[in-house]
Amino acid sequence: MTTPDQYAPSAPFYDLFPVYTGREDVEFYVQAARASEGPVLEIGCGTGRVLIPTAREGLTCVGVDPSAAMLERCRANLAAEPSELQGRITLVESEMQRLDLGRLFALITCPFRPFQHILSTEDQIEALRHVHRHLAPGGRFIIDIFDPRLDALLHPEESGVLEPEEFTDPATGERIVRRTRRVAWDRTNQILALEFLYERHLQSGGVEFTEHPFGMRYIFRWEMEHLLERCGLGVVDVFGDFERGSVISGESRELIFVCERRD
Ligand SMILES: C[S@@+](CC[C@H](N)C(=O)[O-])C[C@H]1O[C@@H](n2cnc3c(N)ncnc32)[C@H](O)[C@@H]1O
Repeated sequence: MTTPDQYAPSAPFYDLFPVYTGREDVEFYVQAARASEGPVLEIGCGTGRVLIPTAREGLTCVGVDPSAAMLERCRANLAAEPSELQGRITLVESEMQRLDLGRLFALITCPFRPFQHILSTEDQIEALRHVHRHLAPGGRFIIDIFDPRLDALLHPEESGVLEPEEFTDPATGERIVRRTRRVAWDRTNQILALEFLYERHLQSGGVEFTEHPFGMRYIFRWEMEHLLERCGLGVVDVFGDFERGSVISGESRELIFVCERRD
């Protein structure tokens, strides 16, 4: 049985959304990669938003993602880069909990929450053990997740449909609208069921709809530290933003963990 490509519905839109293109994490990850001197493994690399700027530093990179559609976009983005840079990047289709590259990396990153698509504790542990297995002695692992908003957790009924986002597709001039719906909260298993609904307003006058349902597991700060430590990933820093600010309860949007391999 093949696993469905869960990110396929979002792949054509991913690089167009200001919320992704404007995310202020790229320099943070590029700096870490520069300091590591490579090679770099990026888990959940998607369309190459962070991976390609990392390879521009002259480093050898492997990008891993389970979505063939996201990797196809990544290949298309890579095609616009110099051939020398293209030669430094290898793309591999795999989930992180099944990763087997047979080599070690000075830096492993997991930018913009791929880990939260893993919905069970068993799979989370499997995934982090696979990270540990690919980390060189003295190597680092950096991962970000969102800091769960307690107010939203307490009052889920107030936050069913989020503000629609919209933009114009530069290739076609068509207006794209995305609505995000919180479908369900499973507080026992800490899973948020979400749905993106895309509307493409066609030049011809019709509207084309695409749905992308997915789950995200929300994870609290100390829970994440315990998970990492349990898998041999010692936490050396935790930041609340990509300027390396501290975590401020109720204010920080991000939880960014910098880990070192423990044996
Ligand atoms: C929000 S996107 C982030 C993409 C990219 N890292 C970025 O920062 O733009 C999440 C990515 O995680 C990938 N993903 C989902 N489940 C995964 C898993 N089990 N292992 C690795 N990647 C996964 C998705 O296919 C998707 O490309």
